Amino acid sequence: MTARLAVFGNPIEHSRSPAIHEAFGAMAGIDLVYEKVLVPEGKFNDLAAAFMEEGTGFNITVPYKETAWKFVDYSSEKAGLAQAVNTISRDGNGKVVGDNTDGAGLIKDLLSNLGWALESRKLLVLGAGGAVSGVLGDLLDAGPCSVDLWNRTQEKAEELEMRFDDPRLRSVETDGLLEGYDLIINGTSAGLSGRMVALPSRIVADHTRCYDMIYGETTTSFNSWCLEQADCQVADGLGMLVEQAALAFMIWFDSEVETASVISRLRASLQHS
Ligand code: ATR
Repeated sequence: MTARLAVFGNPIEHSRSPAIHEAFGAMAGIDLVYEKVLVPEGKFNDLAAAFMEEGTGFNITVPYKETAWKFVDYSSEKAGLAQAVNTISRDGNGKVVGDNTDGAGLIKDLLSNLGWALESRKLLVLGAGGAVSGVLGDLLDAGPCSVDLWNRTQEKAEELEMRFDDPRLRSVETDGLLEGYDLIINGTSAGLSGRMVALPSRIVADHTRCYDMIYGETTTSFNSWCLEQADCQVADGLGMLVEQAALAFMIWFDSEVETASVISRLRASLQHS
């Protein structure tokens, strides 16, 4: 039987998820179709319920991860803390389950693909929206010595600091930013419109590793800015995208897939698009 999968979002036209899951399906010998569903405002629950009548499950992207968390019958601990769901499936009793694989996907990319250590490191996370709340729990679990959280709107960073309630996590204003973090993760959406977040140059040093959760055909605006400040290393979120998908695939099919070839194929197709 063909498994029916999808990604729900708005906009959705440019989603790479169908190509990624089709590649995984071919590797694992699983027959599947993966659709893009453009969800108009206010229509998520109706479309999700209809899809789950026959579908194996689906992914959720901007701006519906929080709506999806409210929609499911129950969610994993990580998704509950994030208040955001990116993967929906059905359990053995027919209940609709929500998971969030974004954080684990990011960690996998950082540790396994890039070889960037997190343990005992000094981290700075930029942003306090859905993208950041989805990864903070996994970042803290990876054992950094501190995670500073900076957001344009400080109150939202303070809310996350309270919600995650971990002594290593603190919200910081611009004045409180340290010099030369070990790792800076950009989780703001500023770069999607080509904008750069206003930040002091001291946060980046030669040893700093800079990760932008968004990706593009060329170096993202955040990563370009980092490279202008120091002789640092940068990476974008393409690996995270593929790794979070591999973890979703594991939830649906209990099948582990190889990701490196999918990442390089996707990178090549981006550069030629
Ligand atoms: P997402 O699901 O991508 O996280 P979101 O929940 O709307 O989307 O959050 C967007 C994040 O990007 C927020 O942290 C936002 O900052 P504010 O909370 O101050 O709005 C941040 N952001 C977006 N545009 C920005 C810009 N031009 N400069 C700085 N931060 C920006």
